[in-house]
Amino acid sequence: MAEHAASVPADVQREVERLRREIVHHNQRYYELDAPEISDAEYDALFRRLQELEAAHPAVRSPDSPTERVGAPPAERFATVRHTQPMLSLANAMSEEEVVEFDKRVKRALRTEEPVAYVAEPKLDGVAVELVYEGGRLVVGSTRGDGTTGEDVTANLRTIRSVPLTLRARRGAPPIPQRLEVRAEVLLSKAGFRRLNADRAERGEPLFANPRNAAAGSLRQLDSRITAGRPLEVFCHGAGAITGIAANGGRGNAAAGATRSRPATSVRASSDSASALFATQWEFLETLRAWGLPVSDENRRCADVATALTRYQELAARREELAHEIDGVVLKVDDLALQERLGQVSRSPRWAIAYKFKAQQAETKVLDIVPSVGRLGTVTPIAVLEPVAVGGVTVRNASLHNMDEIERKDVRVGDTILLERAGDVIPYVVRVLTEKRKGRPRKFKMPTVCPVSGCGGAVVREEGEAAYRCINAACPAQLKSRIRHFASRNALDIDGLGEKLVDQLVERGLVHDFADLYGLDAATLADLERMAEKSAANIVHGIERSKNPALYRFLYALGIRHVGEHLAQVLADRFRDVGAVMDATEEDLLAVHGIGPEVAASVRRFTNERHNRAVVARLLKAGVAPQAPKAPTGVLAGKTIVLTGALDSLTRGEAERRIVAAGGRVASGVTKQTDYVVAGVDPGSKLAKAKKLGTPVLDEAAFLALLGGRGG
Ligand code: IVH
Repeated sequence: MAEHAASVPADVQREVERLRREIVHHNQRYYELDAPEISDAEYDALFRRLQELEAAHPAVRSPDSPTERVGAPPAERFATVRHTQPMLSLANAMSEEEVVEFDKRVKRALRTEEPVAYVAEPKLDGVAVELVYEGGRLVVGSTRGDGTTGEDVTANLRTIRSVPLTLRARRGAPPIPQRLEVRAEVLLSKAGFRRLNADRAERGEPLFANPRNAAAGSLRQLDSRITAGRPLEVFCHGAGAITGIAANGGRGNAAAGATRSRPATSVRASSDSASALFATQWEFLETLRAWGLPVSDENRRCADVATALTRYQELAARREELAHEIDGVVLKVDDLALQERLGQVSRSPRWAIAYKFKAQQAETKVLDIVPSVGRLGTVTPIAVLEPVAVGGVTVRNASLHNMDEIERKDVRVGDTILLERAGDVIPYVVRVLTEKRKGRPRKFKMPTVCPVSGCGGAVVREEGEAAYRCINAACPAQLKSRIRHFASRNALDIDGLGEKLVDQLVERGLVHDFADLYGLDAATLADLERMAEKSAANIVHGIERSKNPALYRFLYALGIRHVGEHLAQVLADRFRDVGAVMDATEEDLLAVHGIGPEVAASVRRFTNERHNRAVVARLLKAGVAPQAPKAPTGVLAGKTIVLTGALDSLTRGEAERRIVAAGGRVASGVTKQTDYVVAGVDPGSKLAKAKKLGTPVLDEAAFLALLGGRGG
């Protein structure tokens, strides 16, 4: 370490340290205090600067750096971690009587008639984990697993911004123990869950049923970069083993008003439970908070069981408005010495109970099932319901997500269903009450034509995907996002055509498809909201200037599914002309090196759709003239070559590079457009096809001769 650090210039080292401190500070302002001091953009700038420095000077990298939260490449599978102390589960209570019974049991076991104080904590509905800090640094994070052994998800937990990578010592708080094992819950906020599912729905990916599943799925990713992209959070609620600090914190209590005080004793080398260090659960939680670990703000200290029950009612009433999904309240005996005396039965502690909320379910009828088209064309079936109150909210419809879901649950028009609302998350259909089904209710059929008024585009399902989508580039439901893409930097790069402007253009009916952009004039634009004459003129100028894009940018701008910039370039290089792309058959496309069946089918579907053909024709008519890539030069300029069988003197990759260097292109399949087939040892069916089509076939020697001898 030290010699590494020595190779880093001192000013760089200083800047890195300053940036890390600042970022940690702003993380705290943002995640813990909800009081950011700087804008997201400023924060991003700090973050990027630190990333740059760490990339340029690998010696300054550190697993504790805030940049480590972005995740690492996938591991083969999770290693296992044995918990020092087993991670227990909780006994449940379903009614107030059961909670009162629990309180009586506690008192009986403690041989007391005095009221017992509890901490009432929200029962957070997430995934249980254990975080291990050594010397104040996060060293291991694991799942609960079977309670004894869990999975090592350290890399993934590091990506969660509210997980401190290092604990902070605080004046007034106990010193940080040598080893601290903290039990916590990893979860998604309701808003984070909605965002995640909305993204997945648009991409046609399977949806998570609830925030808990989403959190579990996100945490148990072998590729922590995926975890890093999910808005996970963590809240701490318990202790595992704790070793190596002064009993009772040595320097006083974190929480004022601890129920009992203990004599401050000398430093204990090994005090392995929370009860040796803290008097109460409350004090323990507040100390975690002081060290920088996230703790729920909804925890309450309750003097007796009646107060705890009141707190339960309060949380139940506020359940909807809480940022996180909770499924009940956990009551824990506050006094840690009493906890120790109570001990555990089988897998649960005797000192705690989970008082669960009632499920929010209701029965209702499916009046209709209608398709709804999203921003990117995904067609989602929606159940129109007989309005029903679930957990205090009237529900009128529920997403059925996609055809697979409908078939799996066999939901039909006229069915009676069981509906569930988890917090304020979108209501979902648990199951059909088939026993109440009458006659033969109608099944939903996905339309083949887009249901959006004024669209009429084709609705198709891609192979291997659950989602159906409308592929009309001018579909009104998709128009805004498609136009924004069309005008974006790497597409036609039309300056000034921002989100607000596109919204207005579409909403006022001024733009129905890409081509309408080219009919806009400054006077029309200047009439729009927040549009000065000068900027209107600039936009018209920007639109005018976009008329001669490189062909690949034009193809990319059309927003053909699966065709990103790279594939657009591949298409442009091969076909060199918009018309040729629009007329390419699936076979032509498949013959292009780098284009597989999925892309070929998607391009063909796009170019087959008559609305898309009309829009492209209108664009060309409006004066948009995509520029063909520069003609290649070299002995194979413009020639298409297919390789089959192994060559003696060149690997497949070398042969491909030589062809491209000589101006040719490599294709994967033989068609009428193929100029040569190069046949090596053990040629495949491509040779047969070449013979059938009469394509010239070269052996290795002839191929090398054509390239101009060896070397080249
Ligand atoms: S205490 C021995 N506190 O619920 C005590 N657990 O059903 C066990 N949970 O595995 C944990 N919020 O994942 C505790 N405030 C809270 C909790 C909580 C959620 C989870 C935890 C545990 C499960 C037990």
